[in-house]
Amino acid sequence: MSLKVKIASGRASKILAEKIAKAYNQALVNVEVCVFSDGEFQPAFCENLRGSEVFIIQSTFPPAENLLELLYLIDAARRASAHRIIAVIPYFGIARQDRKDKPRVSIGAKLIANLLTVAGADRIITMDLHADQIQGFFDVPVDNVYASRLFLPYLKQRNFDNLCLASPDTGGTRRAATYAKYLGADLAIGFKQRPRPNEIGTLQIIGDVKDKNVVIVDDIIDTAGTICKASNAIKALGAKSVRAMCVHPVLSGNAYENLESSALEELITTDTIPLKKSSDLITVLSTDKLFAKVIDGVISSNSISSLFDYDHFMDLNDISI
Ligand code: R5P
Repeated sequence: MSLKVKIASGRASKILAEKIAKAYNQALVNVEVCVFSDGEFQPAFCENLRGSEVFIIQSTFPPAENLLELLYLIDAARRASAHRIIAVIPYFGIARQDRKDKPRVSIGAKLIANLLTVAGADRIITMDLHADQIQGFFDVPVDNVYASRLFLPYLKQRNFDNLCLASPDTGGTRRAATYAKYLGADLAIGFKQRPRPNEIGTLQIIGDVKDKNVVIVDDIIDTAGTICKASNAIKALGAKSVRAMCVHPVLSGNAYENLESSALEELITTDTIPLKKSSDLITVLSTDKLFAKVIDGVISSNSISSLFDYDHFMDLNDISI
């Protein structure tokens, strides 16, 4: 017996969800949202979900209502007797709270994992979790796909000479080192110290960047403070050009102004979060086919490990389903 596949979306990720559904060759389930005058809201699926495999797409960037809407949708699908509910969370926000590193703080990422499973999610699909270990906060399967599947072919296609990959902080070293390895490029590392969240004290660059085309790799770009500080430091050390590849464009506060006034030539990012405005500096690579491919893998019970196999995905157009 083959189960029906239904793809739905919260309001925050509608544009990406439409593209994912199109890449999967079907239409989004219509969802209507009733909004009360005080801002309280209640989403409702407008078609039968009984016995279906239901994929609900919503990134959990602020405001917190985006997360709440995802939880409501999961709960509604469970109460509508869906066979299996898969939360597709292109950007898993609140992931920077992944440990108790100060007294009397919450571990927000673990709390969100609990909420999603209590609501009824049977599986999670997401991209570049801030820390891979967050997968362990869930007792249901998590498919954490990587934007490297898009970023590496893009860089390969650009064919920069004297390429150097850089991490803006020690936490991102593994990601930058993996990119450098597969592109046969050099590696530089930033040593960042933060007095407070979103505030950078000092940032020193370890490695030779002189006369190189440097690409800084990070998972999140929020205020762009990290990337701008790193790009300015790298440029001051004599780099030929500086670009950044950041998976999730949070771009809050003065991020756009910060980018415009930095040494950065290009920010390459994805559509896990919609941009607040377009900018000539920003190149967006769509994650639509990648998520459609993962949905296909979940439905067909086929392995999706080829999506992690760097040696076989150097062609940007090679994500077909
Ligand atoms: C930190 O660990 C993350 O990987 C990013 O570097 C950070 O969230 C970026 O924040 P901002 O753009 O505000 O410096």
